[in-house]
Amino acid sequence: MENNSKVIVALDYADATSALKLVDQLEPSLCKLKVGKELFTATGPQLVEKLIAKDFKIFLDLKFHDIPNTVAKACEAASNLGVWMLNVHASGGSTMLQAALEGVSKTSHKPYLVAVTVLTSMNQTGLHEIGIEASVDDQVLRLAKLAQLAGLHGVVCSALEAQLLKQRLKNDFLLVTPGIRPFNVNQDDQSRVVTPSQALQMGASYLVIGRPITQAANPIKALEAICAECSNISLT
Ligand code: C5P
Repeated sequence: MENNSKVIVALDYADATSALKLVDQLEPSLCKLKVGKELFTATGPQLVEKLIAKDFKIFLDLKFHDIPNTVAKACEAASNLGVWMLNVHASGGSTMLQAALEGVSKTSHKPYLVAVTVLTSMNQTGLHEIGIEASVDDQVLRLAKLAQLAGLHGVVCSALEAQLLKQRLKNDFLLVTPGIRPFNVNQDDQSRVVTPSQALQMGASYLVIGRPITQAANPIKALEAICAECSNISLT
């Protein structure tokens, strides 16, 4: 069965055993999987390769942010693993973004390359703290335009900014949205949150969801409920 799912499950686990305990109950048609800094640092590329061998599409969420040459090489190495999507920080600037794209383009397998705009755990106060006076919306739009101009495939943003970005950017520009919380679920450390169906209605291309699934009493039921909620909405 083809994997058209818009749900990306964030495998935020400390080790391979815990991650595989969940993965072994999942079908690749139900969701895509995200391997982030915690799991990748603990397990290395071997786990990514194992998940790909199980036919899962993998978003390698390492959010590279470094000098252009280093980011280009890291992106090339990540692409060589066969991942479906990978990311960098848009705030690394246009030279770094173009270098990242060149790194990805060196491999025959060309994953989606997306740029993180403003982390969904950040709010206006957090931006001010690091010297950015722009509003969250303006900063997200500025970084998303930079990413589009550099030729990237999309951005990571909150669904709260998806409508604005849909209006102002190319229609096929991917909007990958973390900070998703089903109704009545703990917000944790996320600041800018919306429900799965709201996110899709606002224009999100993919939903990144971690703790509402991984910390649920029954993760599979939680995932299935989210997928059902997503398939029930009509997109305009
Ligand atoms: O558990 P929760 O659903 O909050 O997990 C969100 C996931 O999305 C985490 O793995 C986090 O690293 C990632 N993420 C994020 N905000 C971004 C980019 C990625 O929360 N801007």
